[in-house]
Parts: sequence; structure tokens; C-alpha cells
Amino acid sequence: MRVACQQCGDLLDVVYDWDRLRVPDSLKAFEQKWSRRGNPHCFSGVWRFHDLLPFVPVEQCVTVGEGQTLLRPSQRVAEYTGISPGRLYLQYEGMNPSGSFKDNGMSAAFSHARFVGATRAACASTGNTSASLALYCSATRLMKAVIFVGSGKIAFGKLSQALDFGALTVQINGDFDDAMARVKEVSSQLGIYLVNSVNPFRLEGQKTIMYRVLEGLGWEVPDWIVVPGGNLGNSSAFGKAFHELHRLGLIDRMPRLAVINATGADTLYQLVEKHKVRWNQGVVNAPKVCQYYDQMDAQGRRASTIASAIEINRPVNFNKCIRSLHWCDGLVREVRDQEILDAKAQVGAGGLGCEPASAASVAGTKLLVSEGVIQPDQRVVCILTGHQLKDPTATVAYHTTDQDQFNKVLGSRGVRRATFANRAVAVPNNLDEIIKAIRLYS
Ligand code: F0G
Repeated sequence: MRVACQQCGDLLDVVYDWDRLRVPDSLKAFEQKWSRRGNPHCFSGVWRFHDLLPFVPVEQCVTVGEGQTLLRPSQRVAEYTGISPGRLYLQYEGMNPSGSFKDNGMSAAFSHARFVGATRAACASTGNTSASLALYCSATRLMKAVIFVGSGKIAFGKLSQALDFGALTVQINGDFDDAMARVKEVSSQLGIYLVNSVNPFRLEGQKTIMYRVLEGLGWEVPDWIVVPGGNLGNSSAFGKAFHELHRLGLIDRMPRLAVINATGADTLYQLVEKHKVRWNQGVVNAPKVCQYYDQMDAQGRRASTIASAIEINRPVNFNKCIRSLHWCDGLVREVRDQEILDAKAQVGAGGLGCEPASAASVAGTKLLVSEGVIQPDQRVVCILTGHQLKDPTATVAYHTTDQDQFNKVLGSRGVRRATFANRAVAVPNNLDEIIKAIRLYS
């Protein structure tokens, strides 16, 4: 599977000849698919938009029922971030079969893999890509999954998925970037199909997250899309989705894009906001980027954040993300683990649980409102990329009364307090005491 150009080394991109393809006149036309949802390709939240990602004939596309996700306004999170009532929405990708947005991209890459006759598929992962690949392999029995994870670098919910789904799980003594480097070598040597987001078809599937956001808003374009940034597949896909829709005349304006890094894994933030790296018509300042990475290596700096999903040093989709920022008048911010966990607790208290990385979008929105960049009456969509149950260790440590547990999991990350902790109440096994406690606390 070739993912990069042999001349310039940059990642490949999927480009369609739209003049020769049949695309609906309006996005509303996609609503008709729902009445035919007995057909799995109309039911899929990815493949009912096949007209906008027609790289494999629709009847050959693989689906496990991905993309039945939810766009829901959140009063609680609106208040927390300083957005006016009814203007903040959460796009909850935790509802996917494997519990994260990855299933959108995986159904697409997997379809391409089958199309080209692959029998084994591999990825490096901070946990969600691997859970998704493992699920597609076990659900369809079309391929064998080989996954690479950094030892001790993956949340337990995600690791348990890979094991349960029966993937060959290779634990590397290193972090995500080490695993990524090795999986590239292994897949090229052994001819295994690579499904990381270096694979351009992954991004095609992830475009549909934005189609469903538009659908949830009655096909109106929001003012802001706010998304956590890790390997930058989502931000790359989202910009491409809107750029294509705009060129096809299916939307009349572009939303703005905010990509949120964790402070402990802030390569994009540093390069865009501090070093001013720009798209520059495709001539990204490569020497500056290389120099930054060399410095990172020389100083032995490695990504470190409680948001393990986005604990990444060298985001593989950096250039495509810079292109999205250019198309969407975008910007980048970083938020600390303290802010991420407080935001996560607010998301949970508002009725949609997410994992730490996802909550970066909410913490980032709060920051951008406080800076006056996002106006309170603007319509904002935060992408909740992964389910609450992916990382129970972080959640329990935040709410615990056990100081040692708090310190071990969170204190070591610079988290000082659990501002919105909901502590369990310890009571003796005695009816009177239990009733007393309930009266006292409820
Ligand atoms: N949120 C979650 C829950 C993730 O799992 C990831 C990435 C991201 C955000 C970042 O998204 O890479 O598109 O910028 N997880 C990858 C993995 C790296 O291996 O599961 P991105």
C-alpha cells in the first residue's frame, strides 16, 4: 500500500473528477437515503454519503453500521464555555460501534483494502484506531488485524477491545511515534495493508463526520468546528470535506476550524502559532518543521498528556492539516491536562461521556471564548471523538477520594485539583447510616 508520493515524499490525497461524477444538487437529497435504511449502505452514516467519497463502488463498501452518531445541543457545556444558550453543540462520535470516530475512517480504508485484495491490515495506535481495526476484522472476518501499541501508552478500555476482538497485538517498548515508525517498515516489508491516517482513504471516511454535523443543523453551516488534534487526520478530513462541498456549490460559506492540542503534545500549536508555519500554496516551510523536530529530539522532549489518544510528537497529517487551516481560516490552541479533565467532567455532567482527548475541544472552546475569538452568539460544534468508557482510569482518578490514586494518575501530569469531582460517599453496611447519608447529600 503506497501512501506517499515517491518524488516529494508527501502523503497522497484523494482527488475526484467531479465533472464526471453524479453528485446531488443539494445536500437535502441525502435525506432520502434514510427511508431506504433497510439497505446497509443507506443505513451507514458513512456510505449514505457515498456520492461524496466515491472511490470504491458502493456495493463493495464494507459497513458494520458505523456513523449512527448524534449532534446534540448542550446547555451545561454552553454555560461552562461561555456560549449563549442553544448555540453550542456536541457531535458525539462515541456512539460508533467501537466507541470512537475512527470507525468512519476505518470503514473507508477497510473497503479500499478489500477492493485491492488485502488479507492482513495493520496500524500503530494510541488505542482507538486499533480498537476500530480489530472490530472490523472480527465483525467481517475479511482480514487479520495486526496492531502496534506503545507499551503502557494505551488506555485500558481500548486495549481490552483489541484483545477481545482477537487482534494480533504487538506492544512496542516505546510511544506512538515509535510504533508508527515500526508499523510503516513492517507493513512495507510484509506487504500488509496500512490503515493509519497516512492512508488517504481513512480521511475520506472521516469527511462524513462533517456531513452529519451539517445534517444535524438542517444543512446549515456552523460558525466554528472545534476538534482535538493528534495525528491530525480529522482536521485534515474536515477541511477537505468543506472545501469540496463549497466548490460543488453545496454550501455557501466555510466554517472556521479550531484545532486543540494538549499542552504536553503541542507540535501543531508550536509550529503554527509560534513559528508561523503556513500552507503557502502548498509550499509548507519544511526546513522549519525539520528543525523543530531535530530540536525536539536533541532535547529528548517526548509528548506527555493524560489525553493519551493525542499523545503524539510528529503528527503524520501535518501538511494536510495546515491546508485545512488555510481553507477554513483556522487556528490552533493548546490546553493543559487540568483544563481537559475539568471540561471532561462538565461534558459528563451534561449527559454525554467522553474520554480525555475529546474534552480538549470543549476546553479549547472555553479558551477561545475567553480570548474573544469565538463570540458567545456564534454557533459552535465541538467534536467528542471517543466514548467515556475508553479510559475509566482517568475518570475514576478525577472523582476519587483516594489522594494516592489521584496523585499517581493525575498529579504526575500537573493536575492539581478536581474542580468538578463527584466523590463516592463511603458508608458502613448499615441501613440507618445509609439513610442518614442519603438525607445529608441529596
Ligand atoms: N480523539 C481521540 C479519542 C483519538 O483517538 C484521536 C486519535 C484523536 C482525538 C486525534 O485525532 O489523529 O485525527 O488528530 N487517535 C489515534 C489512534 C492516533 O491511534 O487511535 P487525529
